[in-house]
Amino acid sequence: MQYFEVTGGQRLKGKVTISGAKNSALPIMAACMLVDGETSLHNVPDLADVRLMIDLLARLGVKSHRDDDGVLHLEVRDEKNVHAEYGLVSKMRASVCVMGPLLAKRKRAQVSMPGGCAIGDRPIGLHIQGLTALGAEFELRNGDVCLQSKQLIGREIFLGGPFGASVTATANVIMAATLATGRTVIESAACEPEIVDLAEFLNASGARITGQGTPIVTIDGVDSLKGTTHHVTPDRIEAGTFIIAAAITNGDVELVNAKPEHLGAVIDRLQRIGVIIERCKAGMMVSSSRRLEPVDITTQPYPGFPTDLQAQAMALLSLADGNSTITEKIFPDRFMHVGELNRMGAKLRKEGPTVIIEGVKNLIGAPVMASDLRASAALVLAGLVATGTTQIRRTYHIDRGYERIEEKLTGLGANIRRLSE
Ligand code: EPU
Repeated sequence: MQYFEVTGGQRLKGKVTISGAKNSALPIMAACMLVDGETSLHNVPDLADVRLMIDLLARLGVKSHRDDDGVLHLEVRDEKNVHAEYGLVSKMRASVCVMGPLLAKRKRAQVSMPGGCAIGDRPIGLHIQGLTALGAEFELRNGDVCLQSKQLIGREIFLGGPFGASVTATANVIMAATLATGRTVIESAACEPEIVDLAEFLNASGARITGQGTPIVTIDGVDSLKGTTHHVTPDRIEAGTFIIAAAITNGDVELVNAKPEHLGAVIDRLQRIGVIIERCKAGMMVSSSRRLEPVDITTQPYPGFPTDLQAQAMALLSLADGNSTITEKIFPDRFMHVGELNRMGAKLRKEGPTVIIEGVKNLIGAPVMASDLRASAALVLAGLVATGTTQIRRTYHIDRGYERIEEKLTGLGANIRRLSE
């Protein structure tokens, strides 16, 4: 089993290049099943989750290879299989993104129902609601979601749930509606940049989607999609994590390829904390040279503060000069990192969906356990500034969503090593 050993105390300095967004790449790869011909995707990060999606797509008859320039080429060779099995879906929830494309293109989808995970209950009722609204018949069989329809029919669909819009449910309905008959209008669609990226990819392949990035997305069905080339948008969560890495170490870092327009709420909160963030030609410059001010953060759907940066922000605010709060409005149980940060000397108290953070002067290195992808990133960030050494076990969580994180951090002067037990 691998673990990271981080020795704190280095100010991060230099340039880091932000990779393509995991949460764009995964649905776009699934969308390749809608396409006749070859799709070429630039900027797909080399991550465990991407490799799992390649594996799942291979079982669903999609041939893929990365060329010498890192471009991922995908092409459907066999459309017989429509079953995404439990073995893979249970490893990666984003596997549900194959549901819409399978149903639209192969007329049937059988996708194992994902269970709960470390960040809480993660229902998929909205996916099913949206796809049945397009005319699919639904049945739950042996833990599998089974959907079928000879021809999906466009219509108006309200997709809001108790916690607002759902990102991957919006992706599934958009993908299915591209090949439906007539017009689909999604109300309360997710507005995340990853949805915009998916819609732009589909439009380049011949789809007719408008309104992406707003709560109302309109899809006029087409008969077929053709192969195209697409560049996956940079990962705003990786960029946000490096912004916080620069802030927590009082560093001075240039984020090449970061898109400030995707990070408005994060920039707003970080500037209030006292971090200096500027746009530059290559992306963004981040520096911090003074004591951090406390702030209150509430996670929200885009364009609000992302839940995927909540844990990392908590590591930062642990060292602020006063009391802060973080309220989690998307996944109210996404707080497994609280106990681990407290092991490092943070003063965090959870009250329902809110954590009260009493700023401390120092964090102290300790052995800690990663519970999920973003929680592990928070522990690495805490380790960068803690006195002494921090061992973060279960690195496989971080490998799901951060490309070569230890290499990128080392390039900025961090002292981090990947070791095996
Ligand atoms: N929800 C429902 N019903 C549904 C679906 C979702 O009530 O049928 C609720 C969820 O419980 C949650 C809220 O809606 O409270 C939003 O969940 P959403 O469906 O948007 O999450 P997701 O699509 O499963 C994506 C990202 C997550 C990210 C969330 C929120 C991908 C592959 N995953 O998940 O990313 O946290 O949106 O922004 O895009 C990560 O990268 O670490 C990660 C967990």
